[in-house]
Amino acid sequence: MPLSGGRFSVRSEVHQETFHPQVGAQEEARCVYFRPMHLRQRLLNATESLCVWDVGLGGAGNALNLIRDHQDLNARVELHSFERCLKPLEFALHHAAKLDYLHGFESFLDQLIKAQRVTFKSGQLELDWHLHMCDLRDGYGPLSGKLRSADAIMYDPYSPAKNPELWSLPAFNRLREALTTPATLATYSRSTSVRVGLLLAGFYVGRGGEVGEKEETTVAATDPGLVGPLLEEQWLKKIRNSTNGEPIRQVPHTRSFLTAETWDRLLRHPQFSSLAVDLELPVRH
Ligand SMILES: C[S@@+](CC[C@H](N)C(=O)[O-])C[C@H]1O[C@@H](n2cnc3c(N)ncnc32)[C@H](O)[C@@H]1O
Repeated sequence: MPLSGGRFSVRSEVHQETFHPQVGAQEEARCVYFRPMHLRQRLLNATESLCVWDVGLGGAGNALNLIRDHQDLNARVELHSFERCLKPLEFALHHAAKLDYLHGFESFLDQLIKAQRVTFKSGQLELDWHLHMCDLRDGYGPLSGKLRSADAIMYDPYSPAKNPELWSLPAFNRLREALTTPATLATYSRSTSVRVGLLLAGFYVGRGGEVGEKEETTVAATDPGLVGPLLEEQWLKKIRNSTNGEPIRQVPHTRSFLTAETWDRLLRHPQFSSLAVDLELPVRH
């Protein structure tokens, strides 16, 4: 699929969604994942390898741009990619010449597909890359044993409208339960429903970077010190009137205003424990 500026990207006709539609794979990965999670600095500071989870390997845009953007660093990355269908990657490999990010990595991807693991050095950066062919609707539990807890998560399923199971409160609960050490998560969605879901699952949630025409994305973490700026009172005030306030609890899901129960849970989240004023939900009949 051609993008502006002569670049190309992968598109799923089944989901009617183009991967990295705004600014292309490389810039999107920087704006949505690398900068908000301070990956360069964390790689520089890491005493052992940094463990990154790549949720939705797809055409490997985020994974390969992570490698390309940090190959000048004398550091190590343990990369875990999760995927249930290899068609986007096979398609991308077939069109490698048109996808700037992929060119030169074809043999490593072939090996990853064949053996589910590949280790190599790209520039200065050492990679230990694992592929988990799985359906994440079943959570991460079935992979335990093969999986190191993430330091950073690039969360990139299809949109909440097309891929609701992975944006639901049960999905975020399963993800939070799988994390046994401090971790950050970044994603392109900034929807209220997604942010509320992350908060109810126990994450601290903040504003991520700007990408293309989108003013902000979302970054979250298991610990408040790992993410900033955190969503604050102003955001809470605003979402009282959101028609998409409730997290997805089951599929199919219908958008709705926040319920009193969800609101109560939000106000009890430690992120909002020092609110200056009493905030109430508007009464709706
Ligand atoms: C937007 S694409 C990911 C793009 C990719 N990160 C890239 O940079 O090229 C979303 C991917 O999530 C995968 N996915 C969706 N639902 C899934 C599930 N339940 N379990 C595992 N993978 C899933 C899809 O197969 C698809 O490849």
